[in-house]
Amino acid sequence: MPRALVTGGAGFIGSHVADRFLAGGYEVEVIDNLSSGRRENVPRAATFHEVDVGSSEAGHIVRNHGFDVLIHLAAQIDVRKSVADPVRDATINILGTLGLLEAVRKAERRCRVVFTSTGGAVYGTFANPPTPEAHPKEPESPYAISKLSAEYYLAYYFQLYGLESAVLRFGNVYGPRQDPHGEAGVVSIFCNRLLEGRALTVFGDGLQTRDYIHVADVVEAAWLGATRPLPAEHGLDSRAFNIGTAIGTNVLDLASHLQRAAGTNVPLEFAPKRPGEQQESFIAIGKARRVLGWAPRVTLPEGLANTYEWFAANRLTGATGKS
Ligand SMILES: NC(=O)c1ccc[n+]([C@@H]2O[C@H](COP(=O)([O-])OP(=O)(O)OC[C@H]3O[C@@H](n4cnc5c(N)ncnc54)[C@H](O)[C@@H]3O)[C@@H](O)[C@H]2O)c1
Repeated sequence: MPRALVTGGAGFIGSHVADRFLAGGYEVEVIDNLSSGRRENVPRAATFHEVDVGSSEAGHIVRNHGFDVLIHLAAQIDVRKSVADPVRDATINILGTLGLLEAVRKAERRCRVVFTSTGGAVYGTFANPPTPEAHPKEPESPYAISKLSAEYYLAYYFQLYGLESAVLRFGNVYGPRQDPHGEAGVVSIFCNRLLEGRALTVFGDGLQTRDYIHVADVVEAAWLGATRPLPAEHGLDSRAFNIGTAIGTNVLDLASHLQRAAGTNVPLEFAPKRPGEQQESFIAIGKARRVLGWAPRVTLPEGLANTYEWFAANRLTGATGKS
């Protein structure tokens, strides 16, 4: 049986990735320190290790458990926290990733690494979306810098050691199990607000766009990134793929789709625009289509309805972060 290691497999996206690899016939192990993830998210059929990605235990597991693929999702994911404590962000996102790459390099079995980066942040503020992979990078936060640094290490390890890797630069991922805390998930925050009958807070005029992609589509990209042949060229963008819809959706439209899914009509409350917030952000996805044979399948109304239903069904279990 092929073997997969999922770091961050107790988190939102990682737990769905672990499900997908189990369904695809892999033996799956999960590494997660439960700093934001939940033990209950880890599929029962997976072997769970409650360790930090930067620890020597994690290195030992990667070197000795004979993985064919490592899908690396464990990360410090909060942009504001990265600004407040860039050293901690870099320790997890750069040094944590580098430690894993060193362990993969020394492992006996050849193992491909799938790394999860961000199409929302590595390109920075740009004039003309949809942004392709080769667009100049202008990371504007420690989080974006740490993700891009890890990408450079992956490109370097490919050039120097032939360590195979795919980089997935996600848009704004939403779906069941997303944590509504922090600034990561406007969809999950709105779902909780709708369930409580409270107003939805919109920053600025609500016309700022983002590329919202359902977790089921992201998981399929992780599967294809792990299993499809990849280009052999060197360079930062050679095996990097934007994973989004190439559609910019503004917050007002997002709110009205969710109002429809919830069958409610709570008011919107407007708050001042957040400093430094990008106005338009969505990414070109032709390369993932061409090379990985990937395409987004879940439409926004379907995906939002599915997500709202999950939040409604799980609200009283504590799985939504609210009890
Ligand atoms: N959610 C999005 O919209 C989005 C967008 C772009 C990129 N990403 C990337 O996708 C990945 C998964 O994000 P998510 O939204 O599922 O976040 P999440 O917080 O739900 O998952 C991250 C998981 O990593 C674990 N973790 C954090 N630090 C760790 C450490 N030092 N050692 C071991 N485990 C650790 C957490 O406990 C959590 O379970 C991240 O790398 C993130 O940067 C997410």
